Amino acid sequence: MQRPIRLSMLATAAVLFLLAGCHHTPQSKPLSQLTPVEMQGHEVFQAHCAVCHHPNSETKLVGPGLLGLFQKPYLPSGAPANDARVRSTILHGKDVMPPFGNVLNDQQMNDLLAYLHTV
Ligand code: HEC
Repeated sequence: MQRPIRLSMLATAAVLFLLAGCHHTPQSKPLSQLTPVEMQGHEVFQAHCAVCHHPNSETKLVGPGLLGLFQKPYLPSGAPANDARVRSTILHGKDVMPPFGNVLNDQQMNDLLAYLHTV
């Protein structure tokens, strides 16, 4: 009479483990659910960033995949994942990544940041 109880406890533990796992998997917001501002940021991304970065995957293209960029504590480089760091990377570039300070205006930059929060 002990075994069924142990099994159900194991099953419960397995379910909890799976749920906890799902919670940590980064999930992009579907394009169809983007706000107008996020959609404009998506267009900026397509025009200037998509050639080197997958937005919805962690797989490297030229630069690292950006899936879950702001859902994780650290950027691929190990720097803290916050707006200031990401903005600065985009403004000034990083190694092979070119600087966009003279390419994007403030609005495009803000839209892009809003979009990056959805990947
Ligand atoms: C020519 C290719 C190229 C383009 C275009 C490019 N990137 Fe990058 N990006 C890279 C590379 C390479 C790295 C890795 C740099 C390193 O850490 O050595 C990188 C790194 C990053 C990082 C991570 C920084 C960190 O600290 O880990 C972010 C975020 C990023 N890019 C966003 C963007 C955005 C947004 C755009 C468009 C405005 C963009 N990139 C355009 C190549 C590119």
